[in-house]
Amino acid sequence: MNNRIKRLFSVATLRAFMAAVFVTWTMGAMAAGDTTQLLSANNDIGNQASLQRGARNYVNYCMGCHSLQYMRYNQLAKGLGISEDQLIDNLMFTADRPTDMMTIAMPPADAATWFGRTPPDLTLIGRSRGSDYLYTFLKSFYVEEGVPTGVNNLVLANLSMPHVLWELQGLQKAVFEDVANEDGTTTHAFRRFEQITGGILTEDEYNQFVRDTVNFLEYAGEPSQLERRRLGVLVIAFLLVFGLFSYYLKKEFWKDIK
Ligand code: HEC
Repeated sequence: MNNRIKRLFSVATLRAFMAAVFVTWTMGAMAAGDTTQLLSANNDIGNQASLQRGARNYVNYCMGCHSLQYMRYNQLAKGLGISEDQLIDNLMFTADRPTDMMTIAMPPADAATWFGRTPPDLTLIGRSRGSDYLYTFLKSFYVEEGVPTGVNNLVLANLSMPHVLWELQGLQKAVFEDVANEDGTTTHAFRRFEQITGGILTEDEYNQFVRDTVNFLEYAGEPSQLERRRLGVLVIAFLLVFGLFSYYLKKEFWKDIK
């Protein structure tokens, strides 16, 4: 090894590198701590019944505005374990053929005029935002006077999406409190939600409704996840069996050599 390479791997450089990694990591953790605490979605994409309910929720409550343009209907049916007839009867309201992409008819320009912002395609939202974010998002709409939609959201402030699930959840208001900081400033801190009107669903039922919907969105973001998990189990099982064979084979080969 020449001297330059040796210097590159010197203990001091390594220490500096580790320190840099540690600082970046703690800064990331601190930055994340600034945002609203996310609830845990506790969803399971291996749960096919939940995925089916989530797909139904999505088609009925979200697809008026949000496409899933990278997903085909027949691919969806495969992942949910439903037949093509079930697909056509229950989930295909706007498409003609099972091979169609899950697009929507609303022109983006009109959507921008109606809502102020075009509702984003949600195929990859589960991957970009994460399930916990989506779960918290759908549970964090609260009533606010004087805005066009009548609501605001704790995790996406001043958003232009209406609370499309309000009939199911009922309406809630957010209680904030001014907290004095050490440097003399005050923070408008969120404390809790208070239910104003009841919804069609109980709180537990609403949580389950949201969990199923989020589960479906996580699946839509990465349909191959299911297949990968199944393969993973097979591969580990193979390695275990193979390991056992190799062990006894080794014992057999070496038994006469002292
Ligand atoms: C009436 C139209 C409409 C419906 C129906 C609707 N949304 Fe939205 N949605 C919007 C608009 C508009 C935005 C853009 C909000 C913004 O960025 O201000 C949005 C944004 C979002 C976002 C992005 C949040 C982010 O952090 O960027 C998610 C996630 C979302 N919607 C989920 C859903 C789900 C799930 C449903 C069904 C339960 C749904 N939406 C139904 C109009 C709608």
